[in-house]
Amino acid sequence: MITTQGISSRLSSLRELPIGLFDSGVGGMTVLRAMREQLPNESFLYLGDTARMPYGTKSVETVQRYALEAAAKLVERGIKLLVIACNTATAAALSVVQEACPDIDVVGVVEPGAEAACRATKTGYIAVIATSGTIRGKAYERAILQRMPEARISALACPLFVSMAEDGLTEGPLAEGLAARYLNRIFRDPREQGLEVPDTLVLACTHFPLLRNAIAHVVGEGVTLVDSASNTARKVRKLLQEKHLARGSGPDVGMPLCPGSVRFLTTDDAPRFMRMGELFLGIPIAPCTVELVELSCRDSN
Ligand code: DGL
Repeated sequence: MITTQGISSRLSSLRELPIGLFDSGVGGMTVLRAMREQLPNESFLYLGDTARMPYGTKSVETVQRYALEAAAKLVERGIKLLVIACNTATAAALSVVQEACPDIDVVGVVEPGAEAACRATKTGYIAVIATSGTIRGKAYERAILQRMPEARISALACPLFVSMAEDGLTEGPLAEGLAARYLNRIFRDPREQGLEVPDTLVLACTHFPLLRNAIAHVVGEGVTLVDSASNTARKVRKLLQEKHLARGSGPDVGMPLCPGSVRFLTTDDAPRFMRMGELFLGIPIAPCTVELVELSCRDSN
């Protein structure tokens, strides 16, 4: 029989565990950054599957397999909640991962991004830019239209932004040139013809907020740029509070990780992952916090 004391001690040990996040690379760190700001007492375990990125050009089946393998690795290490900090993986695999991880909450980034877009738009005309996989699956259209059936949506795949972000090429003529190449057809060209343009642009790939300045420069004033990061962090904070799993919401014991600490797993080129991670997160990453791991499908089925 499970006693009240048993439940409370299980909650205490769960509460100590980090929140797990994964992405194909360093893009998910834009979500991690927001989570560190909004959940300063929590610890995090971040997995960047750099060996197999990009996810955005792969088939749904492949992304589902990768997502299951990444989730299995994080669960095996011990986490209290999982965030799929990748729109492509969320769009392709959220329900599959939720089914495979029945003991923890699994949160994706599409719903929070769609919510941010619906809150920001005044005209109901929303542009969504993402990887080819996310655009193909129409997950954002569904999520936006569910909240706002009258919304008009322009969706566009901008896959090269991912490599630009991974290479740290986030500002300057190259980034702005690419942004113009992709986005002029939705913003500059119709504007020049006196046509309406979207008033809200969803950066529906966790890599894209790194190019925010270049993108903002190209789309011009009057367009609000939104992404999933802060809404996802808010959703996680609420979930942890509801489930009494937020650190500081009960008698914490042990503290194997310092509050606010982040540990990293990566599947390739740890030094590069660290360099880019420092740039994205804005904090130094100590080599001892980064571990090279292999993901295999053995654990995921
Ligand atoms: N950062 C990911 C996303 O949010 C995917 C980037 C990629 O690997 O293609 O979609």
